[in-house]
Amino acid sequence: MIKLLLDVDTGIDDALALFYLAQAQKQGQLEILGSTTVGGNVEVAQTTLNTLKIWEMLELDIPVAAGANNPLLVPLSPAPFVHGDDGLGNSFLSPPKKMRAEESAAEMILRLSRQYSGELTVLTTAPLTNIAVALLQDPSLAQRIKKLVLMGGAVFTGNVSAVAEANIANDPEAARIVFRSGIEMTMIGLDVTHEVYWEERDLEPLIKIDNQRSAFLLQIIRFISAAYESLSGWRRIVLHDPLAAGVCLFPDLVKTEKRYVDVELNGDLTRGMTVVDRRGRTPLGEENMEVALEVDAERFKTQLMQSLLVWIQEG
Ligand code: RIB
Ligand code: CA
Repeated sequence: MIKLLLDVDTGIDDALALFYLAQAQKQGQLEILGSTTVGGNVEVAQTTLNTLKIWEMLELDIPVAAGANNPLLVPLSPAPFVHGDDGLGNSFLSPPKKMRAEESAAEMILRLSRQYSGELTVLTTAPLTNIAVALLQDPSLAQRIKKLVLMGGAVFTGNVSAVAEANIANDPEAARIVFRSGIEMTMIGLDVTHEVYWEERDLEPLIKIDNQRSAFLLQIIRFISAAYESLSGWRRIVLHDPLAAGVCLFPDLVKTEKRYVDVELNGDLTRGMTVVDRRGRTPLGEENMEVALEVDAERFKTQLMQSLLVWIQEG
């Protein structure tokens, strides 16, 4: 069974990834060993509360360890206009009952990597600061992780700039450390996540069930859809983080190419860009990750909707 550690900046689409993974755990498809939080969509204090609260809503007792608020070298640039002041679409949920773990995110990452050496899948849906901090403390972490699936980066596009994706752009130095660490990685970037979205008409199954759980999900989905419309012109939720979660369970949801990928740190226009060397010969370096280029969007959207509906119908 997949043994999973999540690193998240919960966040609306992170939250949907947690709902999806929780359902997979209830069906015996994986075991979530822990979750670590980082500053990203909002400050780490809030992403930690949100993660604790989502696990509570799902009636799961999964430890949450708080990590870095700021990127390695620069201050945090949160995105409350996309995710709400509380990171969950201004739903302002009551505080979680459970406290965060006493250990830090880096401590949890290192501890689980030792306890489950060679077995641990890590899913990151956030800036890579916590993983980089753990690697700086113990570079041999790279050899103990079975696989890291990361939502971040892009081959041909960007979101926070023409060429950079938010999770990488928020901490390019951390991303570079992780990319160069030797960890076995799969990059789920914007080239595939932009294909996987819901518009209002796709929400019909949620709308049909009128209870508090569906109201919460509709609130957060509609909040981010409206924010996305003001930024891009399209009223939709792009299912970035849930797709990366889906790939942990079903790697064949995406088609990948093994490539050398590094991160631009300096360009005025290109800081945070993932530079993917697609040449036959790769003078930049040895191929260091699988890069997703195609996705079976319909299959995943159906899976995700089904797992949300199970939770709603239990409510
Ligand atoms: O670029 C998409 C990513 O940035 C997602 O992880 C989302 O949560 C946002 O923070
Ligand atoms: Ca995220």
